[in-house]
Amino acid sequence: MTGAVDLSVCNTLGLHASAEHLVVIEKESQLFDLLAAGDLTKRPFQVLGGGSNVVLRPHLPGTVVLMRTRGIRWERGARGFINVTAAAGEPWHDLVRYTLGQGWSGLENLALIPGSVGAAPMQNIGAYGVELADRLVSLRALDLDDGSIRVFDRDACGFGYRDSRFRAHDADRFIVIEITLGLSEKPRPMVGYPDLRDELQMMGCGEPSAVQIAEAVIRVRRRKLPDPRFQGNAGSFFKNPVLPTAQAEQLSQRHPHLSLRESGHGMVKLSAAQLIDRCGWKGKQNGRAGVWQRQPLVLINLGGATAAEVLHLADAIRHDVASRYGVDLEIEPRILGQD
Ligand code: EPU
Repeated sequence: MTGAVDLSVCNTLGLHASAEHLVVIEKESQLFDLLAAGDLTKRPFQVLGGGSNVVLRPHLPGTVVLMRTRGIRWERGARGFINVTAAAGEPWHDLVRYTLGQGWSGLENLALIPGSVGAAPMQNIGAYGVELADRLVSLRALDLDDGSIRVFDRDACGFGYRDSRFRAHDADRFIVIEITLGLSEKPRPMVGYPDLRDELQMMGCGEPSAVQIAEAVIRVRRRKLPDPRFQGNAGSFFKNPVLPTAQAEQLSQRHPHLSLRESGHGMVKLSAAQLIDRCGWKGKQNGRAGVWQRQPLVLINLGGATAAEVLHLADAIRHDVASRYGVDLEIEPRILGQD
């Protein structure tokens, strides 16, 4: 599709943006047709999945590829694992529901995360004590540098907290085609996350099934996070800062109220929500962009917001947190396009 194409329904923040060229991929073979025509080697290009982790500025030059491929298949793997392979364009939560419906566990903590399967490895989606890296076996991707198909096992993906090679040094080089996850017929409940534990207790679930865990996660998410269908947002707008233990301890001496969580390798995770909350940002607005009252990590579109308004609000929050706590907040969504 050529000519400026409106992308406001293709991003969960609901920002108005136009793409110079838009290509909708419904079959894997279309990717190779585009490659043969030279369309995918013309940079800039951007891949959009569910558009749930992006801030779109008004103009996206070049080609925007919308991944809408569907399909889920599975086979029995080693040690009782079920290997489930899903196409990049599948909505993430549809995949979670499908696997729960089959009686498999592994994705229940990741229920109701907006976005597509292909976007999940980009920022290594995670919630309630589980992240994609814990379940990913491998992924298949098209390498735009030479047109080859590459298979990456988990270790080759360079996963970190909300990070992977695909959003870091290899950004825009690969198009994820499908991912394979290792799930289990035996329940493997991960219910240590305080919010989840409390919710399950309220539901009266002593030994919860995968479906009950997903139900609890969905309840907590619905309570805390705005539904992008009704209130434009891109989930957590900031990452939780991860600091060396010594630095975190110094900070905690000055600010004893701060909650710190061990994050391994001599590092400690702070709660960005708490820092933003303490700075008094809940419910604040900049033009038509605002801070979600129930989870200040989430910035919302109050209706007709521009990327500039959202980013200006984010900058004001970052400056405030940096000047009060000396902590740099990193923005989680990718910022794409031009003003
Ligand atoms: N908090 C406050 N004030 C608030 C809300 C939270 O002080 O208004 C503090 C509390 O101390 C709370 C802590 O923040 O205990 C943590 O809050 P929460 O459990 O809601 O999780 P989070 O660390 O803020 C992360 C992810 C979420 C994910 C939840 C649950 C990031 C950037 N965000 O948020 O992911 O759903 O944990 O696992 O890691 C997303 O990435 O889009 C996302 C929503």
